[in-house]
Amino acid sequence: MLKQEIEDGQASLADPAFRQDVLRGFDAHPRAIPARWFYDRAGSELFEQITDLPEYYPTRTETAILRDCASDIATRAGAGRAVVEFGSGSSTKTPILLQAVAPSAYVPIDISGDFLRESSAGLASAFPGLTVLPVEADFMHPIALPMQVAQTPKLGFFPGSTIGNMIPHSSVDLLRAMKESLGEGAMLVIGMDRIKDPATLEAAYDDAQGVTAAFNLNLLTRINRELAGTIPVEQFRHRAIWNDDRARIEMHLEATQDVSFTIEGRPFTMAAGETIHTENSHKYGARDARILLRAGGWTPIAEWTDAEGKFAVILAEAQAARLAP
Ligand code: AVI
Repeated sequence: MLKQEIEDGQASLADPAFRQDVLRGFDAHPRAIPARWFYDRAGSELFEQITDLPEYYPTRTETAILRDCASDIATRAGAGRAVVEFGSGSSTKTPILLQAVAPSAYVPIDISGDFLRESSAGLASAFPGLTVLPVEADFMHPIALPMQVAQTPKLGFFPGSTIGNMIPHSSVDLLRAMKESLGEGAMLVIGMDRIKDPATLEAAYDDAQGVTAAFNLNLLTRINRELAGTIPVEQFRHRAIWNDDRARIEMHLEATQDVSFTIEGRPFTMAAGETIHTENSHKYGARDARILLRAGGWTPIAEWTDAEGKFAVILAEAQAARLAP
């Protein structure tokens, strides 16, 4: 019965949060849809391809920095910590840290159970003696970590410059939530992309092969598939623009001509040149990054970059509560 209703267009299995964000996003001016909806299966595969593109320097630069600084992180963090990763873990970066730190346990946290189970299984087989304790949760809010690591000091891991996809206000909230989740005496390893010349930044988000364009446009395909949309995807183009005032790359989908379409039966129109704002990727100068961390309750204690200063890996410790300014 439900299947028939779906086929008849009377009901849908779409995530209600996706529907709400898309309909609100198209009603808003300027129009905007949160970047978290990029990552359906096709979007996740396209993102994997992005990380290998010649123009997209962050992944390979951060990986090389981590290879160089991992033993230093291990020395500063000391033995016996539990590594808590915010995100389901990358097949290249996570093993570098785990190998160096030799943690007492590894706790990956992710909102997507599927990704979490896949990557946890991979890491458990790569590190046979390691206790892996996956937690399916939204790490934007404080999380109760598994009992097994309640008394163990934690080393948080948040690579990838993912913090850059949040506006600064939300980044501070996230850093505070991480501090609360990790508890007293915690440390945090975080990757942050640096401000650099706009041409390099724009190329990283608008590559010659068009993979980032496909990643951005896939959001419209997803809306058509999951929300019975009729968006003419070929009448949109990908834009990546450096916003110097806000120190961020903005990704947009721009209508190349006047368009009309429906989403779950609701009509929308967009004029040629109008855009849907789909992602921000903030970049931080060295001092900006330190201020952001301090605002979020963390004291930076060491920092590593590549020779050109494109990307930074920062080690910070949780600020102890203090009354004096
Ligand atoms: C996931 N995140 C850190 C990427 C970034 O660089 O902001 C997402 C991305 N969007 C387009 N290319 C990469």
